[in-house]
Amino acid sequence: MAEIQKVGVVGVGLMGSGIAQVSASAGLETVVREVDRELLDAGVASIRRVLERSVQKERISGEQRDATLGRVTATLDLEPLAECDLIIEAIVEDLGAKNELFGALDGLAPERTIFASNTSSLTITEMAANTERADRFVGLHFFNPVPVMPLVEVVRTGATSDETLQAAMEFVKAIGKTPIVCRDNSGFIVNRLLVPYMLDAMRAYESGVGSIEDIDTGMRLGCGYPMGPFTLSDFVGNDTLYRITEIMFNEYREPRFAPPSLLRRMYLAGYHGRKVGRGFYDYSGDEPVVSDFVKR
Ligand code: CAA
Ligand code: NAD
Repeated sequence: MAEIQKVGVVGVGLMGSGIAQVSASAGLETVVREVDRELLDAGVASIRRVLERSVQKERISGEQRDATLGRVTATLDLEPLAECDLIIEAIVEDLGAKNELFGALDGLAPERTIFASNTSSLTITEMAANTERADRFVGLHFFNPVPVMPLVEVVRTGATSDETLQAAMEFVKAIGKTPIVCRDNSGFIVNRLLVPYMLDAMRAYESGVGSIEDIDTGMRLGCGYPMGPFTLSDFVGNDTLYRITEIMFNEYREPRFAPPSLLRRMYLAGYHGRKVGRGFYDYSGDEPVVSDFVKR
């Protein structure tokens, strides 16, 4: 199988912008696609911000920043993705939306193009089965924040070919990340363990074990986690986490994957976390403080 030289990233939100940045920084031509101009511009601005920080820290030069940005092509159309060797989907965690996208791409992209999903909780099989290229379909599950987190889970289904798996592993190494191979089950390795932990923290809070701040401090200082579970949930996005729990609960039918009622209410009320400025914490001041919504 030919080497991956041109990468498509669909969705330039929290994850897609990071994936596009690491791809372009590794020297690969990278096409990013969004649904509207404002979101597309915001995604590219976020890539520029991260590169700018690297220039300030003297990790890269201004020329390298410009060359990296020069490798990013931003588009609202699907057609430019058809020239890519690998297309990574990073849109909303919704099977219908993902299948609609992959269905359209399947008709456009040449045979050689590998499809990958960055899904957190859907199985790769349920997307691959809706295309004519199940053998050229993998999961590439990145972690947030993508520029910092070294891991990528490479997910193989029963239909993924050896060549596709090999090409995906090589791509992950080429962008400076560490791949681990996972079988195709909901949540793969990391989220299967991490999601119930975050949900348990919410249930512990609901049952009065301690305050939001104390549970976060407990896990940070007691276990050395970089963020407590509520800070992490706000960081992942409470909307995304809520969708993940619905999918994982539906798959496994185990109470530990069920969304706690607090998470559901936060999702419904728009307390989607750091990206919107409010979640378990309110981020509008100098320091985050616990949201009134959670306390009431
Ligand atoms: N983009 C790019 N770089 C970022 C960044 C971002 N969004 N956020 C932080 N950084 C960089 C900073 O620039 C800094 O770089 P240098 O060390 O080179 O100066 C470095 O990361 C450390 O940042 P800070 O000093 O500001 O803050 P920190 O030490 O608290 O680290 C963190 C920030 C790396 C995010 C750390 O808090 C952390 O590791 N948190 C846990 C993250 C985690 O668990 N992610 C997985 C989420 S689950 C998931 O992704 C899967 C899923 O499907 C839901
Ligand atoms: P996000 O809401 O920040 O970004 C999703 C983006 O996709 C939005 O900007 C949206 O406009 C865009 N989009 C939706 N449909 C589109 C389409 N058809 N074409 C192009 N763009 C489209 O979400 P996110 O947190 O970046 O999550 C994206 C995916 O990555 C989800 O599947 C999520 O489960 C997964 N993921 C998230 C995290 C995390 O920590 N947030 C970590 C790993 C994986």
